[in-house]
Amino acid sequence: MKLLVRRSAPAAAAPPPAWPLLGSDGQRVTAGERSLAAFELAALNLELLAEAEREACLEALAALYDAIPRPFQVLSVPARREPNDHLSPMQAGIAGRRAKSAFASYAALYRELSAAPRRPLRATYLVVDAPSQPELRRVSELIRRVGQERAVELRPLPPAELIQLWASTAGAGTEHRLGVHVAAHDGLRAAVHFGTRWPAQVTAGWLAGLLATPGLAAASMRMRPLSRAEAMTFMTTRLRHARAGERLATERGELEDPQRERMAATASAARHATQAGQGRVYLVDSALLLEAPDSATLQERIEALRLEARSQQLEVELASFRVGQAWHSILPGPAHQPLAERNLDSASLAASLLHVSSDLYEASGHLYGRQRSSGTPIVLDRFARPSHNAIVLGQTGTGKTMFTGAEMSRCFLRGIRVLGVDPLGDYRRLATELGGTYLELGAPGVGLNPFALSGAAEPGAFSAKLAMLSRLVGAMVGGLGRDERPALDRALRASYEAARIGPDPASFDRRPPTLADLVAHLAEQPGGASLAHRLERWASGSLADVLGSQAEVPLDRRLLIVGLAAIGDPEVRAVAQFAALSVLWDAVRRDLAPKLVVVDEAWKVMRQPSGADFIEELARSARHYHAGLHLATQDIVEFLRSEYGESIVKQCDIRVLLGQTPEAADALTRYFDLTPAERRALLHARPGEGLLFVGGSHAAFEATVSRREYAVLTTRPADLIQPALREPTPDTS
Ligand SMILES: Nc1ncnc2c1ncn2[C@@H]1O[C@H](COP(=O)(O)OP(=O)(O)OP(=O)(O)O)[C@@H](O)[C@H]1O
Ligand SMILES: [Mg+2]
Repeated sequence: MKLLVRRSAPAAAAPPPAWPLLGSDGQRVTAGERSLAAFELAALNLELLAEAEREACLEALAALYDAIPRPFQVLSVPARREPNDHLSPMQAGIAGRRAKSAFASYAALYRELSAAPRRPLRATYLVVDAPSQPELRRVSELIRRVGQERAVELRPLPPAELIQLWASTAGAGTEHRLGVHVAAHDGLRAAVHFGTRWPAQVTAGWLAGLLATPGLAAASMRMRPLSRAEAMTFMTTRLRHARAGERLATERGELEDPQRERMAATASAARHATQAGQGRVYLVDSALLLEAPDSATLQERIEALRLEARSQQLEVELASFRVGQAWHSILPGPAHQPLAERNLDSASLAASLLHVSSDLYEASGHLYGRQRSSGTPIVLDRFARPSHNAIVLGQTGTGKTMFTGAEMSRCFLRGIRVLGVDPLGDYRRLATELGGTYLELGAPGVGLNPFALSGAAEPGAFSAKLAMLSRLVGAMVGGLGRDERPALDRALRASYEAARIGPDPASFDRRPPTLADLVAHLAEQPGGASLAHRLERWASGSLADVLGSQAEVPLDRRLLIVGLAAIGDPEVRAVAQFAALSVLWDAVRRDLAPKLVVVDEAWKVMRQPSGADFIEELARSARHYHAGLHLATQDIVEFLRSEYGESIVKQCDIRVLLGQTPEAADALTRYFDLTPAERRALLHARPGEGLLFVGGSHAAFEATVSRREYAVLTTRPADLIQPALREPTPDTS
């Protein structure tokens, strides 16, 4: 196959460069006489990486570049992300009519969001060429191997995609008229190259701002590694120039020139590094191709690019009289003549990476909403992050439950087990919709037995259970006296002993004691009588149904929610919430499959010191069991002020701030270091709007939900009186 760009004669002085013919036999791709290969570099969101990870990434990239024995090119072009890349793997695991219909609604939402991103995504390629096919194979193999060793994600580009990349960059099949500044077809194209003024120091991903310029059709950097001898000569010459300049200036009595001083210092440092064999020196030729429908827009875009470059202390120049040459230098394949080369050492080159992205997209994850600034969907995988926990902070009615429920539904669709405690009955319809199990605690005959040893049968489980029960009893009776603690401990042990259960996991299968047994044993203990008396209403009185049950909880369910709305008394409900959570925690520790554990209205549990202590411990240890704790709360000021609040937030890699009152916004501003604009945004946020913090990065976002998710999660009375929204569709399968 041959592809050719036809050009008419240029209107300006420079002769058109001879563009090579692109050829392919389906296996190999050639440009003129040379063979071509390319790799796609996976986009890197530096903001999502911790400091150390970021450094390791740049080091790996520098090592990869340094291993390539010949000139190469890094080319960034606009890209599309196909919704099916995300949806197809998810769909593969969906079974059952209900899950299918929830997925269909989710997929429709995802497609809708994907169709309307405002800032284009980019794809970046590493391109190499060689005079012969065997030589190209050798280089490609080397790149692949070093990439693998250094964990730089590279995808070899099949010939058809490479041809497509070349054709789209070249505008194949179109006829452009080359003018002085632009190439004209239906629209206009202009080329810009980096000049000689570069910043003294570059930070990782410093070119990201330039890549976001609208109409940027391609950005190319061509690297020519210098041999050690060439690099020494080059640096020595630069150093001599700088020194000569300095001498001349001193003779003339002129002031020192910082630019020259910097050049001398850099050249001297680079000489030493080269001599010591640390990294390489590259000559880098960079060019950008801008597109616009008309000349006014093109001018605007060039100006925007120039301003952005200046903010980085980089000067860019329009390739006047050399549009064809500049465009040619951008095409994937062998270079023509360099436009304006600039020397860079390995580390600065790695920091100038073109494959940065500010996109919050983790391929293995699911939808969290859309970025307010760019409109792009946010896809995250909490289980791919160091901590799998998340916290949602917002005032009443700001969308915590909607966001949390959507997270539960999406995790469920991805095959993650979902366990939750639901104080207000907000997730009942969701559980029914997805075919999950909903335990209505406090309803006649529905209760828990917190004594059951249903967690992992491991040696420490028994003493952990005793510690948890002691906390729970403390919460039930509103705190334990000093004498009551040992009495309780003895009574707990006696209750288990009577049931022939002990530290040996083999005994865990026996029928566990109940609260009534504990009360009986307490009454026999010195100092236990008063405690026994206070526990009575839980064991055999009006509350016996809630936590005094013998029933077993089906902890192996894919979706299990313990509802507390049937319990009228808020104090009792808070204790039941704690007990339910401890039972669900047993489920978490049964195996290492990924699980989501949801606690809505978390502050209600945390208000009791033993509850706060427990939640903090869960947040800290969840990761070890492959579990992600998901907390939502509205009492932000109290939460942050509490002894455990800060340490819990630190254990959450994903933090969501929704609408706030001025008082809470102030507390959050201090805590999250928010800008005045961000604070204002939280004050005026509509339900579902807020800020999403992921690792070190954050973005204004909107927690978009699908139609079905909305229908089963809304808590607005106006929605709930509509019969269509009140009950999920009955399952007739
Ligand atoms: N992401 C969203 N998109 C559209 N509407 C939303 C969204 N989030 C919330 N809403 C609307 O706001 C209402 C209240 O939301 P939600 O029940 O999630 O609030 P909440 O923060 O949990 O409040 P509370 O603290 O009182 O439980 C929803 O019923 C819905 O109508
Ligand atoms: Mg809520």
